[in-house]
Amino acid sequence: MDKFQAENQQRWNELAEVHYTSASSDYGVDDFLNGPERKRDLHKTELEELGSVKGLDILHLQCHFGMDTLLLARMGAKSVTGLDFSPVAIRQARELADRAGIAAAFIEGNVYDAPDLIHGTYDLVYVSWGTICWLPDIDAWARVVAHFVKPGGRFYFLDQHPVTLSFDDYAPAPHAPVYDYFHKPEPIAFNQADSYADEKAVLKTKRSYEWTHPVGEVVTALIDAGLKIEYLHEFDTVAWKALAFMEPCEGGLYRLPEGMPRLPLSYSISARKPL
Ligand SMILES: C[S@@+](CC[C@H](N)C(=O)[O-])C[C@H]1O[C@@H](n2cnc3c(N)ncnc32)[C@H](O)[C@@H]1O
Repeated sequence: MDKFQAENQQRWNELAEVHYTSASSDYGVDDFLNGPERKRDLHKTELEELGSVKGLDILHLQCHFGMDTLLLARMGAKSVTGLDFSPVAIRQARELADRAGIAAAFIEGNVYDAPDLIHGTYDLVYVSWGTICWLPDIDAWARVVAHFVKPGGRFYFLDQHPVTLSFDDYAPAPHAPVYDYFHKPEPIAFNQADSYADEKAVLKTKRSYEWTHPVGEVVTALIDAGLKIEYLHEFDTVAWKALAFMEPCEGGLYRLPEGMPRLPLSYSISARKPL
């Protein structure tokens, strides 16, 4: 693991702690646990696109503390396995599964090492919201994803659109791009004390590093890894307040204020491994 990912891992350990325990965290662990009526669900975008997951074996890469992994189990998956490189997040994921009474496997490891850590293939490989910006090499990532999809199985990906990464998160509207849209080997360095899911958080590890992966490079990497793209959809919504002046809208999502030109804020890809 390079020094940038190692620093990111330190920050993710702290973020996991805050997201799992803080009352002001948008993750809402209490709502998740307070059944039987689900108060916490996946976002509208993936709920509308995923279709039924009943009876599927699912691998969730970069699962954080596993809440979405467990929501997939609640939606009827036959088995769910989550992987994340934060030991804190994985410990919490196992605890959350126990507290919720849901069977799930959680594996600690870097996504690039996943083929050495997890055996078998899956009906659905699932990756969503805030993932590939933490990864330096999109071709190697696509090979990992394709490795785990069963022949005839599906890969579903949903994340922020790289256009949003061109802007300063904290700048007031109207906004202008400050970072390149295109990929560079050197990551962009950020210093942030708070969290995307908790504006009140004050983290010790402020530094983090992100890589931009243009949509064309992501799609091409998946094709080169042997997957067949079923669709690529772009949305004017995203799952967190990615820019300071965004406004909440339905389905747990955020959008640009009314009257502002609409930009792509997230995108999804559905792909299959040929039989
Ligand atoms: C924003 S979360 C995404 C998960 C999910 N959408 C959520 O919000 O719960 C990003 C996760 O990626 C993990 N991560 C970052 N880089 C990673 C890597 N190289 N290998 C495995 N996990 C990584 C972090 O630990 C973090 O839990």
